[in-house]
Amino acid sequence: MLFIGVDLGTSAVKLLLMDEKGKIEKIVSKEYPLYFPHPGWSEQKPEDWFTKSMEGIRELVAECDRAQVKGISFGGQMHGLVALDENDEVIRPAILWNDGRTGKQTDYLNNIIGKDKISKYTANIAFAGFTAPKILWMKENEPDNFARIRKIMLPKDYLAYKLSGTFCTDYSDASGMLLLDVEHKCWSEEMMGICGITEEQLPRLYESWEPVGCLKPEIAEALGLPKDVKVIAGAGDNAAAAVGTATVGDGGCNISLGTSGTLFISSRDFGVDENNALHSFAHADGNYHLMGCMLSAASCNKWWMDEILKTTKYQEEQAGITKLGENPVFYLPYLMGERSPHNDPDARAAFIGMSMDTTREDMTLAVLEGVAFGLRDSLEVARSIGADPERTKICGGGAKSPLWRKIIANVMNMKVDIIESEEGPGYGAAILAAVGCGVYPSVEEAAKQLVKVVATEEPDPELAAKYEERYQKFRKFYPALKGMF
Ligand code: XUL
Repeated sequence: MLFIGVDLGTSAVKLLLMDEKGKIEKIVSKEYPLYFPHPGWSEQKPEDWFTKSMEGIRELVAECDRAQVKGISFGGQMHGLVALDENDEVIRPAILWNDGRTGKQTDYLNNIIGKDKISKYTANIAFAGFTAPKILWMKENEPDNFARIRKIMLPKDYLAYKLSGTFCTDYSDASGMLLLDVEHKCWSEEMMGICGITEEQLPRLYESWEPVGCLKPEIAEALGLPKDVKVIAGAGDNAAAAVGTATVGDGGCNISLGTSGTLFISSRDFGVDENNALHSFAHADGNYHLMGCMLSAASCNKWWMDEILKTTKYQEEQAGITKLGENPVFYLPYLMGERSPHNDPDARAAFIGMSMDTTREDMTLAVLEGVAFGLRDSLEVARSIGADPERTKICGGGAKSPLWRKIIANVMNMKVDIIESEEGPGYGAAILAAVGCGVYPSVEEAAKQLVKVVATEEPDPELAAKYEERYQKFRKFYPALKGMF
């Protein structure tokens, strides 16, 4: 049996073919453009996601025994607003998770409606990237488009809809809309009222491993796949990544170093941190999780390499780095503003502490360290509410760098477990597909059986102590600069 996991990311869709024992048979990746029509805005065309996914699936299954493909599922970039009209046409480009245009609407939700109420309705407060503030933005700024909305969905749900015809979402991804009552797993009447929408405009809710239907006959034909291939609801990319690293059940921790950077803590119990600095979301294993999200993580390094140093040789740039724990240069990773814990769409990146002898290596190191310090900010919030994991898994493109893993282990002072494959969301999605097709009794069981830890990066007490000192400096920079952004 074969299962397809789709990781619908921000720079590309990555598709993965897995057998029922968890072996990855093939990976295909297809890029699509990301648009920044104004500073701080971030958009993509849902049609590109679909076209590139179809191309990718065809390539993925080109040489396999296609009759063996039983299920497909998704891990999708979260929070993006996809709006369809009465003809199921996309009304406007999707407004993405790292878009910062909704400062005014976020302020209205948190300060006029009030954080207490919003948190009571949804277990979260408003952040600029969440879906509800974007709906309010559209209502205020594009009233004609708003009036045409018949269906509101998240990025991966657009793919599920195009493939199966079912208007659906799952609890983990729906949690990031600020429309779901996360604790009770139902749409919040109050939030629908505040946003001026009705339940008919929202997708039906499923657990991440539940089948929502099968491939539409014309899709099955176009892909050369059997018509009974099951489409499984899937999850937000962080919950899918957590499944793909076996961060399930109670007290697991996963760090994802993708375009965004997240710290994900799984829990059997529902919980909310007092200041709502961490997101309180449903998990793809049927439980809950807390999560801190940085808007720019591996994307800081990508920006520094591609746009500034103009190089594709990431590894070579890291090879000459020696000053671990002693780098006088600091970097603030706020290229797209910041979500956790600052909730400030206007924050911006900065290098601090250069002198005439600062080298290219120092600045590259500062970028890697700045992202690690940003993740530590979320860990500090988790620690302040008693969640203090002693080890973490790691996944995402940035997790390929041994140097970055070492910096993270020492900045966080945590053991970092390295998984056989860093394909977190795609692998997690394929696992969800296997569970949905009845191969495993539960997501937890499947993840624990299939995911293999191959090595561990242990923190070194001396280096961790040096990084502790540097982190205490780092955390003073944002409050000092806040007024200047
Ligand atoms: C999570 C978040 C990001 C995106 C990236 O809250 O906004 O991690 O899901 O794809």
